[in-house]
Amino acid sequence: MTEKSFKGKTVLITAGPTYEPIDPVRFIGNHSTGKMGYALAECFAAHGAAVQLVSGPTGLHTNHTNIEVKRVTTAEEMYKAVLKRADAADIWVFAAAVADYRPKTVADKKIKKAGDELTIELVKNVDIAAALGKEKEEWQFSVGFALETDNEAANAREKLRKKNLDMIVLNSLKDPGAGFAHDTNKITIIEEEATHTFELKKKSEVAQDIVDLIWKRTNG
Ligand code: CTP
Ligand code: CA
Repeated sequence: MTEKSFKGKTVLITAGPTYEPIDPVRFIGNHSTGKMGYALAECFAAHGAAVQLVSGPTGLHTNHTNIEVKRVTTAEEMYKAVLKRADAADIWVFAAAVADYRPKTVADKKIKKAGDELTIELVKNVDIAAALGKEKEEWQFSVGFALETDNEAANAREKLRKKNLDMIVLNSLKDPGAGFAHDTNKITIIEEEATHTFELKKKSEVAQDIVDLIWKRTNG
């Protein structure tokens, strides 16, 4: 056990994409692999936390005895799984790339090819981080992620405020080697009163930087 122990703490983490079905064989998804969320789960577990990992569809696995994995597919399922586990968790980490919209109706049969255009009507999904932010208690600490292409810091700061987060991790897309599907990431961590910039690193090392700062804030 290192000095940075999360023993006795429960950490709830969302990870991976969500898939929103269109018909029995198709869905709307995104390129999230879940690597960052799983790396965080491993890191917290290694530091003694009891981890509840709510994971969208990914090819990743973990065998750590401190990590309990709940697999979900859609944003709605992820929200329900998170709601069940949130009250008991000291720290919430929203690393999932939740689909913002889902098809308004799901066809019960495969949609057949017809005509030159197809329009699919979408409706907004619940914002899991924002919904939980409204319920957050004084003793709970929440962390969000943001991936922006412009006005990065300002947009991330806005999300920090809107979702009642204590910390937001901004992923840079500008750096080659950062973001989706890479094993490296370059992050900036934004808090109300401070901004921390980091070099391009392996996702496991990025996870350690994030966990270190969360430890400081929850044990300071
Ligand atoms: N998030 C969530 N539920 C959603 C959408 C986002 O919990 N339905 C969380 C993400 O896990 C992340 C944070 O909110 O921690 C920011 O996600 P992001 O997609 O960057 O923000 P949005 O509010 O969806 O804004 P936009 O996609 O328009 O930039
Ligand atoms: Ca979004």
